[in-house]
Amino acid sequence: MQSLSQFLASGSTSESLQEVLSVTTQTCIEISNALKKGSLAGILGMAGNENVQGEEQKKLDVISNNMLKSALLASPVVRAIASEEEDDIVPAHTDGEYLIAFDPLDGSSNIDINSMVGTIFSIYHQTGTAPATEADFLQPGKNQAAAGYVLYGPSTMLVFTTGNGVSMFTLDVDKGEFVQTQPTVEVPKDTQEFAINMSNQRFWAAPMQSYVTDLISGKEGPREKNFNMRWVAAMVGDVHRILCRGGIFIYPWDNKDPSKPGKLRLMYEANPMGMLIEQAGGKAFTHTDRILDIQPEGIHQRVAVVLGAANEVDTCLSYK
Ligand code: F6P
Ligand code: MN
Repeated sequence: MQSLSQFLASGSTSESLQEVLSVTTQTCIEISNALKKGSLAGILGMAGNENVQGEEQKKLDVISNNMLKSALLASPVVRAIASEEEDDIVPAHTDGEYLIAFDPLDGSSNIDINSMVGTIFSIYHQTGTAPATEADFLQPGKNQAAAGYVLYGPSTMLVFTTGNGVSMFTLDVDKGEFVQTQPTVEVPKDTQEFAINMSNQRFWAAPMQSYVTDLISGKEGPREKNFNMRWVAAMVGDVHRILCRGGIFIYPWDNKDPSKPGKLRLMYEANPMGMLIEQAGGKAFTHTDRILDIQPEGIHQRVAVVLGAANEVDTCLSYK
């Protein structure tokens, strides 16, 4: 079995991209270790377990953000970062080559119940002679050089793509390194499993209401088959399930708050997951457009998301 560094060195990934991936994933191993300590992490502090009692306890999403931020900013190939936990982009090295957008701890409300969370990352290759600005980040997801996530579940897994398919790695906790456990990933075109937060049903647009009504009508309904439902409440967990065994994941537009076209963030949730899903043969759309084609207007922009099994995404979007 190949380790992550062997895998990267044997492919066509440039050395500078290998460096970004290596810094990101090494830090995720440290985040994984912090998560294992649970609430203790914020009490004990992260620096070699030194006791920082007396300091205010930090939440794990803030700790994760600070770990990724300081590791990435220290790397000379990094031009700038953007994070769910930072209002603005943070420039690093003007002569760096990569912009990294990340959600340091997706699904962080799951922390309180010791359930699945993850780190999602999106990497763009971009150079310039002046310090990076937000405008440099505002590129459609199809320009991503790499995208992926680290899932902190019963085992810690890394799933990523550099545009040549998707592969999965599992953390070997004894060696402290990721080892490739699945070289190819394919999302079946059809499915009988969906993921959506049903409690928002009354706020959805009419076509989404009709689509889900037909799903739950099962064998007796127009779809003539029974559907199962799952909801991890962390996008990273739901997308991981889809990459493992198929399905469709939806966080639709709703009219709860007319100023928000969806809940999920384009730059560090929808785009990286969209690239992974497409690279595994699935589809990733808003209720109207291919996610990877969207021209972003802001680093924290929200979008509606319908992704997973190609034929099921088509069926969902065919409701008008
Ligand atoms: O990051 C936003 C997020 O936590 C996603 O990971 C997840 O899919 C979604 O929100 C959960 O939403 P809800 O609170 O409606 O279940
Ligand atoms: Mn998130």
